[in-house]
Amino acid sequence: MKKWKINSWRNYPVKHIPSYEDEKELNMVLNKIKNFPPLVFAGETRHLKQQLAEVVDGKAFLLQGGDCAESFAEFNPDNIRDYFKLILQMSLVLTYSASLPVVKLGRIAGQFSKPRSSPVEKQGNKVLPTYLGDNINSIEFNEKARKPDPKRLFKAYSQAASTLNLLRAFCHGGFADLKKVHLWNLGYINKSPQAKKFKELEDKIADALAFMDACGITSEFNRRLKTVNFWTSHEALLLPFEECMTRIDSTTGEYHDTSAHFVWIGDRTRQLNGGHVEFCRGIENPIGIKCGPTSKPDEIVKICNVINPKNEKGKITLISRFGYEQVEKFLPKLIRGIKKEGLNVIWSCDPMHGNTIKSATGFKTRPFNNVLKEVKNVFAVHQSEGSYAGGLHIEMTGQDVTECIGGAQKISDRDLSSRYHTHCDPRLNANQALELAFLISDEIKKNSNYYRKAI
Ligand code: PEP
Ligand code: CO
Repeated sequence: MKKWKINSWRNYPVKHIPSYEDEKELNMVLNKIKNFPPLVFAGETRHLKQQLAEVVDGKAFLLQGGDCAESFAEFNPDNIRDYFKLILQMSLVLTYSASLPVVKLGRIAGQFSKPRSSPVEKQGNKVLPTYLGDNINSIEFNEKARKPDPKRLFKAYSQAASTLNLLRAFCHGGFADLKKVHLWNLGYINKSPQAKKFKELEDKIADALAFMDACGITSEFNRRLKTVNFWTSHEALLLPFEECMTRIDSTTGEYHDTSAHFVWIGDRTRQLNGGHVEFCRGIENPIGIKCGPTSKPDEIVKICNVINPKNEKGKITLISRFGYEQVEKFLPKLIRGIKKEGLNVIWSCDPMHGNTIKSATGFKTRPFNNVLKEVKNVFAVHQSEGSYAGGLHIEMTGQDVTECIGGAQKISDRDLSSRYHTHCDPRLNANQALELAFLISDEIKKNSNYYRKAI
Protein backbone atom coordinates (compact mmCIF):
# COMPACT_ATOMS: atom_id res chain seq x y z
CA MET A 1 0.00 0.00 0.00
CA LYS A 2 1.38 3.40 -0.99
CA LYS A 3 2.16 5.96 1.68
CA TRP A 4 -0.84 8.10 2.60
CA LYS A 5 -0.48 11.85 2.54
CA ILE A 6 -2.99 14.56 3.28
CA ASN A 7 -3.15 15.26 -0.46
CA SER A 8 -2.44 11.78 -1.89
CA TRP A 9 -6.13 11.56 -2.94
CA ARG A 10 -5.15 13.98 -5.74
CA ASN A 11 -3.32 11.12 -7.49
CA TYR A 12 -6.54 9.13 -7.87
CA PRO A 13 -9.61 9.57 -10.04
CA VAL A 14 -12.36 11.47 -8.24
CA LYS A 15 -16.03 11.84 -9.03
CA HIS A 16 -18.42 14.66 -8.14
CA ILE A 17 -15.81 17.31 -7.37
CA PRO A 18 -16.49 20.51 -9.35
CA SER A 19 -13.89 22.32 -11.37
CA TYR A 20 -13.52 25.98 -10.54
CA GLU A 21 -12.99 28.58 -13.23
CA ASP A 22 -10.43 30.50 -11.20
CA GLU A 23 -7.97 27.99 -9.65
CA LYS A 24 -5.93 30.79 -8.14
CA GLU A 25 -8.88 32.11 -6.21
CA LEU A 26 -9.76 28.60 -5.04
CA ASN A 27 -6.24 28.08 -3.71
CA MET A 28 -6.29 31.46 -1.98
CA VAL A 29 -9.54 30.49 -0.20
CA LEU A 30 -8.27 27.03 0.75
CA ASN A 31 -5.01 28.45 2.09
CA LYS A 32 -6.96 30.81 4.30
CA ILE A 33 -9.25 28.06 5.59
CA LYS A 34 -6.17 25.97 6.43
CA ASN A 35 -5.42 28.56 9.10
CA PHE A 36 -8.95 28.74 10.51
CA PRO A 37 -9.62 26.94 13.79
CA PRO A 38 -10.74 23.31 13.64
CA LEU A 39 -14.50 22.83 14.04
CA VAL A 40 -14.10 19.77 16.23
CA PHE A 41 -11.33 18.50 18.48
CA ALA A 42 -9.54 15.17 18.03
CA GLY A 43 -10.34 14.08 21.59
CA GLU A 44 -14.05 14.41 20.83
CA THR A 45 -13.70 12.28 17.73
CA ARG A 46 -11.98 9.56 19.75
CA HIS A 47 -14.78 9.75 22.31
CA LEU A 48 -17.37 9.27 19.55
CA LYS A 49 -15.44 6.26 18.25
CA GLN A 50 -15.62 4.66 21.71
CA GLN A 51 -19.37 5.23 21.77
CA LEU A 52 -19.69 3.71 18.31
CA ALA A 53 -17.75 0.66 19.50
CA GLU A 54 -20.60 0.17 22.00
CA VAL A 55 -23.02 0.17 19.06
CA VAL A 56 -20.99 -2.57 17.33
CA ASP A 57 -21.42 -4.63 20.49
CA GLY A 58 -25.20 -4.10 20.55
CA LYS A 59 -25.04 -1.98 23.69
CA ALA A 60 -26.18 1.29 22.08
CA PHE A 61 -28.07 2.55 19.04
CA LEU A 62 -26.86 5.09 16.48
CA LEU A 63 -29.23 7.85 15.35
CA GLN A 64 -27.86 9.92 12.48
CA GLY A 65 -30.04 12.54 10.85
CA GLY A 66 -30.52 15.99 9.46
CA ASP A 67 -30.89 17.86 6.19
CA CYS A 68 -30.03 16.30 2.86
CA ALA A 69 -28.28 19.60 2.15
CA GLU A 70 -27.95 22.46 4.58
CA SER A 71 -28.59 25.81 2.97
CA PHE A 72 -27.73 29.44 3.60
CA ALA A 73 -31.43 30.32 3.26
CA GLU A 74 -32.67 27.98 6.02
CA PHE A 75 -29.90 29.01 8.44
CA ASN A 76 -31.42 30.52 11.58
CA PRO A 77 -31.39 29.74 15.31
CA ASP A 78 -35.01 28.57 15.45
CA ASN A 79 -34.40 25.95 12.80
CA ILE A 80 -31.34 24.65 14.66
CA ARG A 81 -33.31 24.61 17.93
CA ASP A 82 -36.25 22.75 16.40
CA TYR A 83 -33.95 20.25 14.76
CA PHE A 84 -32.21 19.63 18.07
CA LYS A 85 -35.55 19.24 19.89
CA LEU A 86 -36.55 16.56 17.43
CA ILE A 87 -33.25 14.69 17.83
CA LEU A 88 -33.73 14.79 21.62
CA GLN A 89 -37.30 13.53 21.31
CA MET A 90 -36.38 10.70 18.97
CA SER A 91 -33.47 9.70 21.19
CA LEU A 92 -35.67 9.70 24.25
CA VAL A 93 -38.22 7.46 22.55
CA LEU A 94 -35.46 5.03 21.61
CA THR A 95 -33.65 5.17 24.94
CA TYR A 96 -36.78 4.79 27.02
CA SER A 97 -38.58 2.13 25.06
CA ALA A 98 -35.58 0.11 23.95
CA SER A 99 -33.51 0.65 27.11
CA LEU A 100 -30.49 1.54 25.02
CA PRO A 101 -28.28 4.62 25.04
CA VAL A 102 -28.51 6.52 21.76
CA VAL A 103 -25.46 7.96 20.02
CA LYS A 104 -26.73 11.23 18.52
CA LEU A 105 -25.02 12.16 15.27
CA GLY A 106 -26.25 15.11 13.20
CA ARG A 107 -26.12 15.58 9.45
CA ILE A 108 -25.48 19.18 10.33
CA ALA A 109 -22.82 21.90 10.70
CA GLY A 110 -21.13 21.10 7.38
CA GLN A 111 -23.50 18.96 5.26
CA PHE A 112 -23.46 21.11 2.13
CA SER A 113 -21.92 19.45 -0.96
CA LYS A 114 -24.04 17.07 -3.02
CA PRO A 115 -23.31 14.42 -5.63
CA ARG A 116 -26.02 14.81 -8.28
CA SER A 117 -27.42 12.28 -10.72
CA SER A 118 -27.05 14.65 -13.65
CA PRO A 119 -24.41 17.33 -14.25
CA VAL A 120 -27.02 19.55 -15.92
CA GLU A 121 -30.54 20.73 -15.16
CA LYS A 122 -33.11 21.60 -17.78
CA GLN A 123 -35.93 24.10 -17.26
CA GLY A 124 -37.97 24.75 -20.39
CA ASN A 125 -35.44 25.15 -23.16
CA LYS A 126 -32.66 26.30 -20.89
CA VAL A 127 -29.91 23.91 -19.75
CA LEU A 128 -27.55 24.91 -16.92
CA PRO A 129 -25.04 23.16 -14.66
CA THR A 130 -26.73 21.41 -11.72
CA TYR A 131 -26.91 22.86 -8.23
CA LEU A 132 -24.15 21.20 -6.17
CA GLY A 133 -24.77 22.54 -2.67
CA ASP A 134 -24.59 26.01 -1.14
CA ASN A 135 -20.86 25.81 -0.42
CA ILE A 136 -20.24 25.35 -4.19
CA ASN A 137 -22.90 27.19 -6.22
CA SER A 138 -26.38 28.66 -5.84
CA ILE A 139 -29.75 26.97 -6.35
CA GLU A 140 -31.02 29.95 -8.38
CA PHE A 141 -31.51 29.04 -12.00
CA ASN A 142 -29.23 31.38 -13.92
CA GLU A 143 -25.78 31.05 -15.41
CA LYS A 144 -23.93 33.21 -12.90
CA ALA A 145 -25.54 31.49 -9.88
CA ARG A 146 -24.59 28.03 -11.08
CA LYS A 147 -20.87 28.79 -11.45
CA PRO A 148 -18.83 27.24 -8.61
CA ASP A 149 -17.66 30.12 -6.42
CA PRO A 150 -14.79 29.45 -3.97
CA LYS A 151 -15.90 32.30 -1.67
CA ARG A 152 -18.94 30.22 -0.73
CA LEU A 153 -16.58 28.00 1.27
CA PHE A 154 -15.99 30.85 3.74
CA LYS A 155 -19.69 31.32 4.28
CA ALA A 156 -20.24 27.58 4.73
CA TYR A 157 -17.38 27.33 7.23
CA SER A 158 -18.76 30.21 9.26
CA GLN A 159 -22.29 28.78 9.17
CA ALA A 160 -20.95 25.41 10.36
CA ALA A 161 -19.00 27.10 13.17
CA SER A 162 -21.95 29.06 14.52
CA THR A 163 -24.36 26.13 14.12
CA LEU A 164 -21.99 23.96 16.14
CA ASN A 165 -21.58 26.71 18.72
CA LEU A 166 -25.33 26.83 19.35
CA LEU A 167 -25.61 23.03 19.44
CA ARG A 168 -22.82 22.82 22.00
CA ALA A 169 -24.65 25.40 24.12
CA PHE A 170 -27.89 23.39 23.89
CA CYS A 171 -26.04 20.20 24.91
CA HIS A 172 -24.40 21.61 27.99
CA GLY A 173 -26.32 24.76 28.91
CA GLY A 174 -29.45 23.23 30.46
CA PHE A 175 -31.69 22.79 27.39
CA ALA A 176 -31.09 19.03 27.30
CA ASP A 177 -31.91 18.57 31.01
CA LEU A 178 -34.35 15.65 31.27
CA LYS A 179 -36.49 17.80 33.57
CA LYS A 180 -37.15 20.09 30.60
CA VAL A 181 -38.48 17.28 28.43
CA HIS A 182 -41.84 19.10 28.02
CA LEU A 183 -39.99 21.99 26.33
CA TRP A 184 -38.76 19.72 23.54
CA ASN A 185 -42.23 19.53 21.99
CA LEU A 186 -42.71 21.20 18.67
CA GLY A 187 -45.93 23.24 18.79
CA TYR A 188 -47.32 22.15 15.46
CA ILE A 189 -47.30 18.42 16.23
CA ASN A 190 -49.35 18.75 19.43
CA LYS A 191 -52.44 17.07 18.04
CA SER A 192 -50.87 14.08 16.32
CA PRO A 193 -50.94 10.49 17.66
CA GLN A 194 -47.14 10.70 18.02
CA ALA A 195 -47.44 13.74 20.26
CA LYS A 196 -49.93 11.83 22.44
CA LYS A 197 -47.56 8.87 22.71
CA PHE A 198 -44.68 11.23 23.51
CA LYS A 199 -46.75 12.92 26.24
CA GLU A 200 -47.32 9.52 27.89
CA LEU A 201 -43.58 8.95 27.82
CA GLU A 202 -42.94 12.41 29.29
CA ASP A 203 -45.27 11.59 32.21
CA LYS A 204 -43.46 8.33 32.88
CA ILE A 205 -40.13 10.12 32.83
CA ALA A 206 -41.42 12.81 35.20
CA ASP A 207 -42.50 10.03 37.62
CA ALA A 208 -39.12 8.34 37.39
CA LEU A 209 -37.29 11.64 37.98
CA ALA A 210 -39.48 12.47 40.97
CA PHE A 211 -38.65 9.07 42.44
CA MET A 212 -34.94 9.59 41.81
CA ASP A 213 -35.16 13.08 43.29
CA ALA A 214 -36.62 11.61 46.44
CA CYS A 215 -33.68 9.19 46.56
CA GLY A 216 -31.27 12.11 46.24
CA ILE A 217 -30.23 11.40 42.65
CA THR A 218 -30.70 14.77 40.96
CA SER A 219 -29.22 16.51 37.96
CA GLU A 220 -27.17 18.67 40.31
CA PHE A 221 -25.17 15.62 41.27
CA ASN A 222 -25.34 13.74 38.01
CA ARG A 223 -24.35 15.68 34.87
CA ARG A 224 -25.70 12.95 32.64
CA LEU A 225 -29.26 13.86 33.58
CA LYS A 226 -28.86 17.39 32.27
CA THR A 227 -26.35 17.24 29.42
CA VAL A 228 -26.05 15.17 26.27
CA ASN A 229 -23.33 14.35 23.79
CA PHE A 230 -24.10 15.32 20.24
CA TRP A 231 -21.76 14.78 17.30
CA THR A 232 -21.60 16.16 13.78
CA SER A 233 -21.19 14.48 10.40
CA HIS A 234 -21.37 15.09 6.68
CA GLU A 235 -20.41 13.44 3.41
CA ALA A 236 -16.69 13.82 2.77
CA LEU A 237 -17.36 14.78 -0.83
CA LEU A 238 -15.58 18.06 -1.48
CA LEU A 239 -12.06 16.80 -0.82
CA PRO A 240 -10.18 20.08 -1.35
CA PHE A 241 -12.13 21.46 1.62
CA GLU A 242 -11.78 18.28 3.72
CA GLU A 243 -8.04 18.30 3.03
CA CYS A 244 -7.59 21.80 4.40
CA MET A 245 -9.63 20.98 7.51
CA THR A 246 -7.42 17.95 8.18
CA ARG A 247 -4.88 18.60 10.89
CA ILE A 248 -2.32 16.69 12.93
CA ASP A 249 -3.49 16.11 16.49
CA SER A 250 -0.65 17.42 18.61
CA THR A 251 -1.35 14.93 21.41
CA THR A 252 -0.97 11.80 19.22
CA GLY A 253 0.52 12.85 15.89
CA GLU A 254 -2.51 11.37 14.09
CA TYR A 255 -4.45 13.04 11.27
CA HIS A 256 -8.02 14.12 11.99
CA ASP A 257 -10.48 15.69 9.62
CA THR A 258 -11.60 18.49 11.94
CA SER A 259 -14.56 19.57 9.79
CA ALA A 260 -16.79 17.06 11.65
CA HIS A 261 -16.54 14.18 14.10
CA PHE A 262 -17.71 11.60 11.56
CA VAL A 263 -17.64 11.69 7.77
CA TRP A 264 -19.06 9.28 5.23
CA ILE A 265 -18.35 8.19 1.68
CA GLY A 266 -21.39 8.37 -0.58
CA ASP A 267 -22.77 5.59 -2.73
CA ARG A 268 -21.46 7.32 -5.87
CA THR A 269 -17.88 7.93 -4.68
CA ARG A 270 -16.93 4.71 -2.92
CA GLN A 271 -14.65 3.38 -5.70
CA LEU A 272 -11.87 1.27 -4.19
CA ASN A 273 -9.29 3.05 -6.33
CA GLY A 274 -10.86 6.48 -6.12
CA GLY A 275 -9.77 9.62 -4.30
CA HIS A 276 -12.53 9.52 -1.67
CA VAL A 277 -11.52 6.13 -0.29
CA GLU A 278 -7.86 7.17 -0.47
CA PHE A 279 -8.54 10.33 1.55
CA CYS A 280 -10.63 8.54 4.19
CA ARG A 281 -8.09 5.79 4.80
CA GLY A 282 -5.64 8.26 6.32
CA ILE A 283 -7.82 10.06 8.84
CA GLU A 284 -8.69 8.84 12.32
CA ASN A 285 -12.37 9.84 12.21
CA PRO A 286 -15.05 7.18 12.22
CA ILE A 287 -16.15 6.64 8.61
CA GLY A 288 -19.52 5.75 7.12
CA ILE A 289 -19.84 3.90 3.83
CA LYS A 290 -23.10 4.07 1.93
CA CYS A 291 -24.04 0.74 0.34
CA GLY A 292 -26.61 0.80 -2.46
CA PRO A 293 -27.72 -1.83 -4.99
CA THR A 294 -24.54 -1.46 -7.06
CA SER A 295 -22.26 -2.31 -4.14
CA LYS A 296 -20.65 -5.73 -4.29
CA PRO A 297 -19.98 -7.47 -0.97
CA ASP A 298 -16.34 -8.27 -1.84
CA GLU A 299 -15.73 -4.62 -2.79
CA ILE A 300 -17.19 -3.39 0.48
CA VAL A 301 -14.99 -5.89 2.34
CA LYS A 302 -11.93 -4.52 0.52
CA ILE A 303 -12.91 -0.91 1.29
CA CYS A 304 -13.35 -1.80 4.98
CA ASN A 305 -9.90 -3.42 5.02
CA VAL A 306 -8.29 -0.40 3.37
CA ILE A 307 -9.95 2.09 5.72
CA ASN A 308 -9.82 -0.03 8.86
CA PRO A 309 -6.84 -2.39 8.55
CA LYS A 310 -6.76 -2.98 12.32
CA ASN A 311 -10.46 -3.89 12.39
CA GLU A 312 -11.01 -1.32 15.11
CA LYS A 313 -14.55 -1.32 16.55
CA GLY A 314 -16.48 1.92 15.93
CA LYS A 315 -14.36 2.92 12.93
CA ILE A 316 -16.74 1.74 10.18
CA THR A 317 -20.46 2.20 9.81
CA LEU A 318 -22.05 0.52 6.81
CA ILE A 319 -25.15 2.44 5.82
CA SER A 320 -27.42 0.28 3.67
CA ARG A 321 -29.82 2.12 1.31
CA PHE A 322 -31.25 -0.40 -1.09
CA GLY A 323 -34.90 0.63 -1.43
CA TYR A 324 -37.60 -1.27 0.44
CA GLU A 325 -38.17 -3.81 -2.31
CA GLN A 326 -34.50 -4.64 -2.74
CA VAL A 327 -33.44 -5.21 0.87
CA GLU A 328 -33.90 -8.99 0.76
CA LYS A 329 -32.04 -9.21 -2.51
CA PHE A 330 -28.89 -7.35 -1.43
CA LEU A 331 -28.56 -7.07 2.33
CA PRO A 332 -28.16 -10.76 3.31
CA LYS A 333 -25.25 -11.19 0.85
CA LEU A 334 -23.55 -8.09 2.21
CA ILE A 335 -23.98 -9.21 5.82
CA ARG A 336 -22.61 -12.67 5.01
CA GLY A 337 -19.60 -11.20 3.18
CA ILE A 338 -18.71 -8.98 6.13
CA LYS A 339 -19.32 -11.73 8.68
CA LYS A 340 -17.17 -14.23 6.80
CA GLU A 341 -14.21 -11.86 7.14
CA GLY A 342 -14.95 -11.17 10.81
CA LEU A 343 -15.12 -7.42 10.23
CA ASN A 344 -16.38 -5.13 12.98
CA VAL A 345 -19.00 -2.79 11.57
CA ILE A 346 -22.10 -0.95 12.65
CA TRP A 347 -25.09 -1.84 10.49
CA SER A 348 -27.06 1.32 9.95
CA CYS A 349 -30.18 1.64 7.79
CA ASP A 350 -30.80 4.61 5.51
CA PRO A 351 -34.43 4.10 4.45
CA MET A 352 -34.47 7.34 2.46
CA HIS A 353 -32.15 7.20 -0.55
CA GLY A 354 -33.46 3.99 -2.11
CA ASN A 355 -37.07 5.17 -1.91
CA THR A 356 -37.09 8.45 -3.83
CA ILE A 357 -39.75 8.85 -6.52
CA LYS A 358 -41.18 11.63 -8.63
CA SER A 359 -44.72 12.55 -7.60
CA ALA A 360 -47.50 13.02 -10.12
CA THR A 361 -47.22 16.74 -9.35
CA GLY A 362 -43.55 16.73 -10.36
CA PHE A 363 -41.85 16.79 -6.92
CA LYS A 364 -39.08 14.52 -5.80
CA THR A 365 -40.65 12.74 -2.83
CA ARG A 366 -40.55 9.63 -0.66
CA PRO A 367 -43.64 7.71 0.37
CA PHE A 368 -43.40 7.46 4.14
CA ASN A 369 -44.86 3.94 4.03
CA ASN A 370 -41.96 2.76 1.90
CA VAL A 371 -39.51 4.33 4.34
CA LEU A 372 -41.18 2.35 7.13
CA LYS A 373 -41.14 -0.80 5.01
CA GLU A 374 -37.40 -0.51 4.37
CA VAL A 375 -36.75 -0.22 8.11
CA LYS A 376 -38.94 -3.24 8.86
CA ASN A 377 -37.32 -5.29 6.11
CA VAL A 378 -33.84 -4.37 7.30
CA PHE A 379 -34.65 -5.40 10.88
CA ALA A 380 -36.11 -8.69 9.65
CA VAL A 381 -33.02 -9.49 7.57
CA HIS A 382 -30.65 -8.70 10.45
CA GLN A 383 -32.69 -10.89 12.71
CA SER A 384 -32.51 -13.83 10.35
CA GLU A 385 -28.79 -13.30 9.64
CA GLY A 386 -27.94 -12.93 13.36
CA SER A 387 -26.52 -9.43 13.04
CA TYR A 388 -27.39 -6.31 15.02
CA ALA A 389 -29.38 -3.56 13.26
CA GLY A 390 -27.65 -0.84 15.22
CA GLY A 391 -28.39 2.43 13.46
CA LEU A 392 -30.74 4.66 11.54
CA HIS A 393 -29.61 7.28 9.02
CA ILE A 394 -32.34 9.69 7.92
CA GLU A 395 -33.00 13.00 6.23
CA MET A 396 -35.25 14.96 8.57
CA THR A 397 -36.02 18.45 9.80
CA GLY A 398 -37.73 19.99 12.81
CA GLN A 399 -39.72 22.18 10.40
CA ASP A 400 -43.33 21.45 9.48
CA VAL A 401 -42.52 20.70 5.85
CA THR A 402 -44.49 18.74 3.27
CA GLU A 403 -41.79 16.88 1.37
CA CYS A 404 -42.48 13.15 1.97
CA ILE A 405 -45.98 11.83 1.29
CA GLY A 406 -48.00 9.92 3.91
CA GLY A 407 -47.62 9.70 7.68
CA ALA A 408 -50.10 10.82 10.35
CA GLN A 409 -50.81 14.11 8.55
CA LYS A 410 -51.62 12.09 5.40
CA ILE A 411 -49.57 14.40 3.16
CA SER A 412 -50.69 13.82 -0.40
CA ASP A 413 -49.18 14.56 -3.80
CA ARG A 414 -51.22 17.75 -3.92
CA ASP A 415 -49.92 18.93 -0.51
CA LEU A 416 -46.26 18.77 -1.51
CA SER A 417 -46.17 22.26 -3.00
CA SER A 418 -47.44 23.86 0.21
CA ARG A 419 -44.20 23.68 2.28
CA TYR A 420 -41.57 22.06 0.09
CA HIS A 421 -38.35 23.78 1.21
CA THR A 422 -35.55 21.25 0.78
CA HIS A 423 -32.54 22.23 -1.30
CA CYS A 424 -32.01 18.64 -2.40
CA ASP A 425 -33.81 15.46 -1.25
CA PRO A 426 -37.19 15.37 0.55
CA ARG A 427 -36.94 15.16 4.35
CA LEU A 428 -39.18 13.60 6.99
CA ASN A 429 -40.96 16.24 9.03
CA ALA A 430 -41.11 16.04 12.82
CA ASN A 431 -44.29 13.95 12.89
CA GLN A 432 -42.94 11.42 10.45
CA ALA A 433 -39.56 11.25 12.19
CA LEU A 434 -41.17 10.64 15.59
CA GLU A 435 -43.43 7.96 14.12
CA LEU A 436 -40.32 6.27 12.76
CA ALA A 437 -38.62 6.46 16.16
CA PHE A 438 -41.61 4.72 17.79
CA LEU A 439 -41.57 2.04 15.11
CA ILE A 440 -37.88 1.38 15.61
CA SER A 441 -38.17 1.21 19.36
CA ASP A 442 -40.87 -1.45 18.87
CA GLU A 443 -38.61 -3.38 16.50
CA ILE A 444 -35.69 -3.22 18.93
CA LYS A 445 -37.94 -4.30 21.80
CA LYS A 446 -39.30 -7.16 19.73
CA ASN A 447 -35.81 -8.38 19.00
CA SER A 448 -34.12 -7.45 22.25
CA ASN A 449 -34.05 -10.90 23.84
CA TYR A 450 -32.71 -12.28 20.65
CA TYR A 451 -30.01 -9.60 20.41
CA ARG A 452 -28.93 -9.94 23.99
CA LYS A 453 -28.47 -13.67 23.42
CA ALA A 454 -26.71 -13.22 20.07
CA ILE A 455 -24.14 -10.73 21.32
C1 PEP B 1 -27.06 11.53 0.85
O1 PEP B 1 -26.89 10.93 1.92
O2 PEP B 1 -27.56 12.67 0.77
C2 PEP B 1 -26.71 10.84 -0.42
C3 PEP B 1 -26.45 11.50 -1.53
O3 PEP B 1 -26.75 9.53 -0.27
P1 PEP B 1 -26.20 8.33 -1.19
O4 PEP B 1 -24.72 8.55 -1.32
O5 PEP B 1 -26.53 7.12 -0.36
O6 PEP B 1 -26.95 8.40 -2.48
CO1 CO C 1 -29.94 13.05 0.23
